[in-house]
Amino acid sequence: MMPIDALMQEHRLIERMIFQMKKELLTMKSTNRVNSKFIDVVIDFIWVYADRCHHGKEEGLLFRELGTKPMSSEHAGMMRELIDEHVYTRRTTGNLASAKDRYIKGDYDARNDVWKLLYDLVEFYPKHIEKEDKKFFYPSMNYFSQSEQETMLHEFWDFDRRIVHEHYAKVLDALERTDTKA
Ligand SMILES: [Fe+2]
Ligand SMILES: [Fe+2]
Repeated sequence: MMPIDALMQEHRLIERMIFQMKKELLTMKSTNRVNSKFIDVVIDFIWVYADRCHHGKEEGLLFRELGTKPMSSEHAGMMRELIDEHVYTRRTTGNLASAKDRYIKGDYDARNDVWKLLYDLVEFYPKHIEKEDKKFFYPSMNYFSQSEQETMLHEFWDFDRRIVHEHYAKVLDALERTDTKA
């Protein structure tokens, strides 16, 4: 198993979420409302799974190691694009969270922003995944020896193990902060 196999498995889960987002977007538009619980699930999935866990391994391990290799200008350029696209995802998800908050607080017109931002993510993600799966990941492995690939895969597993502990420590920190304020 190569490190990119683990990343591509994660892409398949992200695609399943994108499909649900596409479906729910149609329902929300046809009923002229915002399903805020669904949006909360989407935001949590993108923050924790797609961004912290998945982009975290791409940027913090794969791209970091590639940065130490003599990459072709084509591959280096593509890697910069992928990093910029991760930034776009974070910004769009942040905007989605604030549009949903405005809607909940009574700004009815914010529903258009929620729909638009959800649509933007649904449109964006498959293209990003396709670029990685079909154009970047396989050639990127040629910069690594077999043993470097194995080390990276182990680093991926260690990273994943840390994420769940880190996430729930953050959840508790937030709860305790609210507790102090109450
Ligand atoms: Fe990515
Ligand atoms: Fe990815």
